[in-house]
Amino acid sequence: MKITDVLRAEHAVFHNLFDHIETTVPRLKTLAEVKALAAVVETLHRPHSKTEDDLFMEPLEHCFDQIGQNETFHEEHKCIESTLARARQAKTVKEARQVLLKAVAACREHFDKEERIVFPMAERILKAKTLSELGQAWLRRREA
Ligand SMILES: [Fe+2]
Ligand SMILES: [Fe+2]
Repeated sequence: MKITDVLRAEHAVFHNLFDHIETTVPRLKTLAEVKALAAVVETLHRPHSKTEDDLFMEPLEHCFDQIGQNETFHEEHKCIESTLARARQAKTVKEARQVLLKAVAACREHFDKEERIVFPMAERILKAKTLSELGQAWLRRREA
């Protein structure tokens, strides 16, 4: 399987989770419930962005440089992570809700950019063989 298809499939799971968060979070009454959801997103997002950073950034670095996105891509991962961490450290349920929904919106925007720009670019530039080797590398990480 191509690495780009792996990442798209992971995005689909995130979008379902985000739908759930956006409908339930405004109704949650306790800080602990909101924080627990933030921890779920954080736990899922960390390995996803690490896969992108490790398996994608290197072979595509020159292309990101060309479209001026090299830093942006990495910065957005860090920004999403720190917003999720802030949701977990919030002192009130209101603050936790706001910060978590902000992190979810930032994720959606970032994922959308990857789906529209980054993945098609990778498929244009990298050979089919390289894309499936990277998919294999992803699978090996899961098994490790
Ligand atoms: Fe990403
Ligand atoms: Fe992604």
